[in-house]
Amino acid sequence: MNERLNAITMRLTEHLHSVITEFQVTENELRTALNFLTEVGKSREYQLLSDVLHVSIAVDNITHAANHDDKSTESNVEGPLYRDEAPIMSPPVNICSVEGTDDEILYVSGQVFSSEDGRPLANAVLDVWQANGKGDYENEDPTQPDYNLRGALLTDENGRYEFRTVVPAPYEIGKGGPVGEFLKEIDRHAWRPAHIHFKLSQAGYKSVTTMLFINDDPWIDNDSIGAVKESLILKIEECNDPKEMSSRGINRKFYTSEYDFILSPEKVSITKNKEEYSIR
Ligand SMILES: [Fe+2]
Repeated sequence: MNERLNAITMRLTEHLHSVITEFQVTENELRTALNFLTEVGKSREYQLLSDVLHVSIAVDNITHAANHDDKSTESNVEGPLYRDEAPIMSPPVNICSVEGTDDEILYVSGQVFSSEDGRPLANAVLDVWQANGKGDYENEDPTQPDYNLRGALLTDENGRYEFRTVVPAPYEIGKGGPVGEFLKEIDRHAWRPAHIHFKLSQAGYKSVTTMLFINDDPWIDNDSIGAVKESLILKIEECNDPKEMSSRGINRKFYTSEYDFILSPEKVSITKNKEEYSIR
């Protein structure tokens, strides 16, 4: 017998019964709920449903806490739009291949450190992907070139990285199917605050998938998938200095932002669910 599945099922059943009793759920409502779940399956929207119920981020938190030490960068959900084999770029890195005149130029830089002793990690890989200034990812937008706003870069000998991109815009998660209808019915929006996704990896260290949120976004306190974390907010600063602009070869204002990542070594094994830490 699968004891864990059995225990989860028993507990879930108890909670379901308690909600049904509390709200005196009717047969019609039950039928509507079952039909909804059938439609969610037909539309392949179970992942989306898990996201908007904030289940995805809750499980991601548990998984990260069980595998990484407390000092490492917090994780976040990967989302459905990651693509393997992003082009590997050498400095100076610019992940945006078509910059519109309305796009705001952004330089993101920082260092990657080890949580063990704080030393900078050279040759760590940052795999980056994001939406453009209209909130669209290239693989959902035929007007953008292939792999636009995606790229993999390496930290230098001091663990430093820098890339040029554009400030992403917030976007709405898919709302054309049953999950979108459900959100409408309960008067919940589908917006995600603007963010940049990262996958960090380095030999001997545990990989981290995360995302950084733009600090002044209107949805920062009300993410439809509940994934914003204080430690993952990116503070961006405007720069109008003509000298700085010319040194970067641009003729308009731009934005900069610094963020340091911390990775935990492979050898650290953490079992938080047993409330103990062991270091092998
Ligand atoms: Fe995203």
